[in-house]
Amino acid sequence: MSNDRIMTAPGAVPAGQIAVSPGNPCPFLRALVANGYVGGHVVPLSKLSDIVGDASGQTGLGEKKMRLATWLVAVIANGLGPARLLKSATTGAVLDELRDGPLDKHGGGSRILGVDAKVREDEIERLAGFGTDCRNPAGGTERGLTAKQVDAFMKANLQRDGDAARWYFPLLMKGEWPVLLKIMGKGEGEARYLSVAEVRTLFVERRLPERITARLPKPPSR
Ligand code: HEM
Repeated sequence: MSNDRIMTAPGAVPAGQIAVSPGNPCPFLRALVANGYVGGHVVPLSKLSDIVGDASGQTGLGEKKMRLATWLVAVIANGLGPARLLKSATTGAVLDELRDGPLDKHGGGSRILGVDAKVREDEIERLAGFGTDCRNPAGGTERGLTAKQVDAFMKANLQRDGDAARWYFPLLMKGEWPVLLKIMGKGEGEARYLSVAEVRTLFVERRLPERITARLPKPPSR
């Protein structure tokens, strides 16, 4: 398909960033790897859970729940056989081998990130189409998706996938966009929204907003 015009190539790795394998399809994990918060290959589940707990900015029970949810997702990410589960639990998740694993919805998601790790701008525009202009607590307005709009977006993604969508995809999806909204959202309550500009930065530049990285321990210097 020759639609390079609407695709943003992974391009040269920006200064200070580490190249991320196309075998890692998760935008959140790609940003963690690119910026040295975790390695790109085998990462212990405790490390992943800790970092997501920190990124969430939650404390107490809320943070514990985030850590547990991350552990449960990561333990099944590379395969469901008993030997693989044991290996994941004891050594960690293999982040550059997530493609085609149990979490890969093969087009049942946003389709923003292609299998070649190229970002499709037209799919980011499609995501933006589900949002509205939201009141930024820091001032002004910006395009964003509230929880309800994220829900509508995910339902539309499943519908687009037609018969290919499996019954458990809605369960997997709960751990993706809604969790991103929880971590990166701006504003409170029903008005809380996921900024489309920040989603673009996450996918294209593999960067989390500074207010989120400020919650994380500094990555070891490279
Ligand atoms: C707080 C932590 C996490 C957040 C916020 C997050 C968020 C996301 C988002 C927004 C997507 C994109 C879905 C789409 O394009 O529709 C995604 C995809 C994915 N994530 Fe994560 N993720 C997190 C943790 C993890 C962990 C721990 C793993 C496994 C070790 C993982 C594996 C994946 C995989 C395999 C996909 C691709 C799904 C697909 O192609 O349909 N994620 N994630």
